[in-house]
Amino acid sequence: MKLEIVPDYAELSRRAAEIVIAECRKRPQIVLGLATGATPIGMYRQLVQAYQRGRVSFLRATTFNLDEYYPIAPDHPHSFRRFMHQQLFDQVDLAAERIHFLRGTAADVERECSRYEAELEAVGGIDLQVLGIGENGHIGFNEPGTPFHLKTHKVALTEQTMRANARFFGSLADVPRHALTMGICSIMRSRKILLLASGEKKADALAAALLGPVTEAVPASVLQLHPDVTVIADKAAAQRLA
Ligand code: PGA
Repeated sequence: MKLEIVPDYAELSRRAAEIVIAECRKRPQIVLGLATGATPIGMYRQLVQAYQRGRVSFLRATTFNLDEYYPIAPDHPHSFRRFMHQQLFDQVDLAAERIHFLRGTAADVERECSRYEAELEAVGGIDLQVLGIGENGHIGFNEPGTPFHLKTHKVALTEQTMRANARFFGSLADVPRHALTMGICSIMRSRKILLLASGEKKADALAAALLGPVTEAVPASVLQLHPDVTVIADKAAAQRLA
């Protein structure tokens, strides 16, 4: 595992974007695994700027997003799909048919999760997966206690995650209670993983994930078992790593 501690969020965003850009240039037909949340917003901004300046193209790239609320309509103002369109998809040259998302309106959840896994398999898996980390150590929506062997599945969000995400919805009552998420097993199959952590609220979770035992109680701790993980943390998030 490679750890880069950077001074602040701006630098974290710049470094993360540089890594994504370098991988996209090495392999234009790259399969990217993408994350939502506040953490990657700066990285997406940097990617859009790099695209506008002609430094990177996503024309041949494929994307899979980690998770989506359930139920939620794709055009709901707070769906992750909408978030991705606003932050990245609508501003770069990604081909619509190579954007993959879990459908928050799927009637048959099991079938939807199998469809996603089959599509992941059909493209040969993810080359570079970007991850944030929850205050409780979750990755994607894999909450503490999620078995490591799970593939894409439906989850009940914990109270803590719903509270953390209420900032986007305005009120706790409006946050969906469930989500569909790629499982730990799906995430661990990615060839390369980039974990981003910013702010002191993430300091305990990051320390537990990187320094503590590998345990399903801290989902991100599984990354200690992956052969190619880069962690970029700003000073505030890294404060308990010393
Ligand atoms: P955040 O969420 O980037 O909004 O802090 C990260 C996560 O919960 O995975």
